[in-house]
Amino acid sequence: MNKKSFLLFDRSTQFNKGLRVIAVGMALLCIAAVSAQLATPPSQPEPSTGLYKKSLVSFKSHGVAAANPLAVEAGFAMLKRGGSAVDAAIATQLVLGLVEPQSSGIGGGAFALVHEGKTKKLRAYDGRETAPGAATPSRFIGSDGLPMKFHDAAVSGRSVGTPGTVALLAAMHKKHGKLPWNALFAPAIALAEQGFPVSPRLHDVVKLDRFLKDDPAARAYFFNEKGEAWPVGYALKNPAYAKTLRAIAANGPKAFYEGELADAMVNAVRDYADVAKRGDLTQTDLANYQVIERDPICFSYRLKKLCSMPAPSSGGVAIAQMLAAVERFPLSQWGANSIDSVHVLAEAGRLAYADRAQYLADPDFIDVPKGLLDPGYMKSRGTLIDMAKSMKRAEPGTPPGVKVARAPDANAFLTGTSHISIVDKFGNAVSMTTTIEDIFGARKMVRGFLLNNELTDFSMRFEENGKPVANRVQAGKRPRSTMAPTIVYDAKGNPEIVTGSPGGSAIANYVLKTLVGMIDWKLDPQAAIDLPNFGSRNGPTELEKGTALEALKAPLEARGHTVSVADFTSGLQALQRSFDAKGKAVGWRGGADPRREGIVIGE
Ligand code: DON
Repeated sequence: MNKKSFLLFDRSTQFNKGLRVIAVGMALLCIAAVSAQLATPPSQPEPSTGLYKKSLVSFKSHGVAAANPLAVEAGFAMLKRGGSAVDAAIATQLVLGLVEPQSSGIGGGAFALVHEGKTKKLRAYDGRETAPGAATPSRFIGSDGLPMKFHDAAVSGRSVGTPGTVALLAAMHKKHGKLPWNALFAPAIALAEQGFPVSPRLHDVVKLDRFLKDDPAARAYFFNEKGEAWPVGYALKNPAYAKTLRAIAANGPKAFYEGELADAMVNAVRDYADVAKRGDLTQTDLANYQVIERDPICFSYRLKKLCSMPAPSSGGVAIAQMLAAVERFPLSQWGANSIDSVHVLAEAGRLAYADRAQYLADPDFIDVPKGLLDPGYMKSRGTLIDMAKSMKRAEPGTPPGVKVARAPDANAFLTGTSHISIVDKFGNAVSMTTTIEDIFGARKMVRGFLLNNELTDFSMRFEENGKPVANRVQAGKRPRSTMAPTIVYDAKGNPEIVTGSPGGSAIANYVLKTLVGMIDWKLDPQAAIDLPNFGSRNGPTELEKGTALEALKAPLEARGHTVSVADFTSGLQALQRSFDAKGKAVGWRGGADPRREGIVIGE
């Protein structure tokens, strides 16, 4: 087994973060942290908590990459027992909800691409949260008639959508599972009952969060009696989560969507002294929740076939559009971290994010133009890129087939989420991005898990100048996402790259960088993930702080870019097939994001 034990190092000169050492053990993780000095206010969905050096992991046939070592171990244990990639994804997710509760869990939603080795068919599963039946477009307009401030909306029952993750896991298991459903729950239940060591990142984000303490259940769980975050390495037990999981393991998703657990969620979203914060999720919303299987979006780039998540995510469309816009440029010649590469990829970002704001929303409510992916349209957008000068701000295009005049969603910059990449020995692959939206979601804990604030992914405004915003709130609708679980295929139709990332609206840019890193710059997955993050969401050109890219600030400004230098906390995981000199597939290699605590285990 090729297992990654790693030293966490800090780039303290650049990032002023503490030194930490993590050793990954087989059964239980031992974590020792030497210090954690953080100055970062959480200006992104999840704040930066330093860098953890990772190295490339090679393996032969099956492996798991995810954002926490204990979760990866749980998934890998299922593969070892003959389970499928989907079995492993379920076990991984259930442990993530315990050990990385700030990012994802059963109170949230997820999208997953599942490639079936036997049929070579790719399926896209939509387990996105939905707006309650009582939701109306003015949900996030305050009593003053103005759109609410992000955290006023997010940290409240109003932001909680009907969770989709449990239904998604069950739907995937029904179709692709090999091991019994209840067996997949064993690692998470054992860790929840016996206690798991609080990781450095969990400790840091609990300490940094301004809102978590306000919820009595979260306060009692995440903090000691003095109100301090549990120290790194503290064995934290979550018996309430174990009990919840035991119920779902024994009785299936019904135990979550109906009965006692459903009642507990419905009561929790109403449990606010401030009437304005009370939510309206009902037992009917929960009982009616449906996973939707959608057609993945597939497109070509440099002779490769890539597939990603369709609407209600905007991630796949944005990546397709950005790649099409830059295909005419010699990126491989320019190389990574070069001004020309950053210039064209940022410009492509402006164009794609302008279309995203204008057109992308739940396709069951809004006619999302198919023309957005029309090869001619996408190419024509690319011709707007001028090497000499930034366009600064792109206007949305007019893709073929546009029927309704809409106003753009001004939420473009509002932004916990996690990504899982798994391959098994049967040729199956899973790429799943899973979220509770903001860090710790709505900061509302019920029965050992946190409820999402996914509804703040809707536009706060529902119209502008009399024109409707595509991504406005509507009853039963799914908020637009940027999550982009992605699979790249080899010439034989087998998965070659399995990747994705959290990071709010910047996700498409993080995944784009990693794909271009592997495809154009011929980097291995770890090196591609390690590359500094950059891009544009149709605002400033964004460069990751403390990286080589800072040197491009002045030259980019000279080309007309407005540049913002900031932390960009992606959470990329990528698995890539390795080939011998004759082009024969000989195994896999994988990487995990140094900006988070993920690892890769394979054999
Ligand atoms: O669905 C989306 O695009 C967002 N709710 C994802 C949020 C996210 O990635 C937060 N991550 N750090």
